[in-house]
Amino acid sequence: MHTPICDKLGCELPIFAFSHCRDVIVEITKAGGFGVLGAGTHSPAQLEQELNWIDAHVGGKPYGIDVLIPLKYDKEADQRTESLDDLLPAEQKNFLEKFLRDENVPELPPDEARAVREERAGKERNHGPSGSRRLIDVALKHPQVKLIVNALGPPPKEIVDELHGRGLLVGALCGKPSHAAAHRAAGVDILIAQGTEAGGHTGEISTLVLVPQIVDAAGPGIAVLAAGGISRGRQIAAAFALGAQGVWCGTIWLGTRESELTPLEKQVLFAARTEDAVRRKWMTGKSVRLIRSKTSEAWEQPGAPKHLLPPLQNALYHAARVRIERAGRADLVSLPAGQVVGLMNEETSVRQVVMDMLNDYVETAERIAPLLALDTPK
Ligand SMILES: Cc1cc2nc3c(=O)[nH]c(=O)nc-3n(C[C@H](O)[C@H](O)[C@H](O)COP(=O)(O)O)c2cc1C
Repeated sequence: MHTPICDKLGCELPIFAFSHCRDVIVEITKAGGFGVLGAGTHSPAQLEQELNWIDAHVGGKPYGIDVLIPLKYDKEADQRTESLDDLLPAEQKNFLEKFLRDENVPELPPDEARAVREERAGKERNHGPSGSRRLIDVALKHPQVKLIVNALGPPPKEIVDELHGRGLLVGALCGKPSHAAAHRAAGVDILIAQGTEAGGHTGEISTLVLVPQIVDAAGPGIAVLAAGGISRGRQIAAAFALGAQGVWCGTIWLGTRESELTPLEKQVLFAARTEDAVRRKWMTGKSVRLIRSKTSEAWEQPGAPKHLLPPLQNALYHAARVRIERAGRADLVSLPAGQVVGLMNEETSVRQVVMDMLNDYVETAERIAPLLALDTPK
């Protein structure tokens, strides 16, 4: 399974794990894969702590971080240094408040509400250029960070050039072929072709159709990873058949004991069927594949207010999330997850996921090798 991207990045297996959780990053590294920490849910101070911990536990191995620099965002909110709460329009705030009241979700006690607001204020600009820049600056203090990936648009060329100058590789997610051209122009080294099946922000094209298009558009020297709907070895074999050098997975790690999900969120995850993972704008204002809940569906009803641009919709979502969690209301929990959620029924571990992927990959390779063998002349 060793492909050129493994040599470029210094890992044994081209299995990339996207996760917001440091334990997943460390475990995937120990299992031979490559971990990329989603920095978007951490304040710069929290990120510093997480990267120190990862550095201390990965035995000198390389890893990456992922940031979110969208093409479209709220410019005033991006420049803010104080809380975004007073930029939230009354219509959206009142709609959410009424929904939570009607669902009997209690407010947080004032002290706790203040602590949650302050915690949130440290990271609410992370879905924009200025917040992402602060996170990149933290990562640059950690020499084991060898890859920086951007989602939601091409990373600015000046940042790509700066990162290359420091010896880092740069990746970017693509949801359609035109994204590949924009990322190439910015100088990106790795294209992550993410199909609509994926959890998180996602487009409309399936992985099976998208990956070969991105491989063809990538051009020489640019590696393509397949993402979206990959949780088993047979899907890894398919990704190689489509021309990818590796796979980039997100949802499958959510069900591991190392993941950051709360017990309530894990209950929702394991109960969800593939068809429950739908694209909705409730979480960030852009289409995110998530497990639908009464909350996500309320914003789809006639008369619901329009979604705000990032990072404002995120601020609304996070305010509600803590209250819903505290109330223990599984029916109101919407967490990002891809269609493979329907294959996940019980807790496992990162190591076990990788072992299962490898076994399934070998079985698949043995099964299809005779089908692929060319006739040799007698
Ligand atoms: C909970 C969750 C959060 C995600 N957040 C981000 C993110 O902040 N940045 C990013 O580049 N991708 C994010 N993604 C997408 C992943 O990077 C990855 O492309 C996707 O999970 C792959 O498809 P899969 O979910 O079918 O494995 C997220 C995915 C999940 C499941």
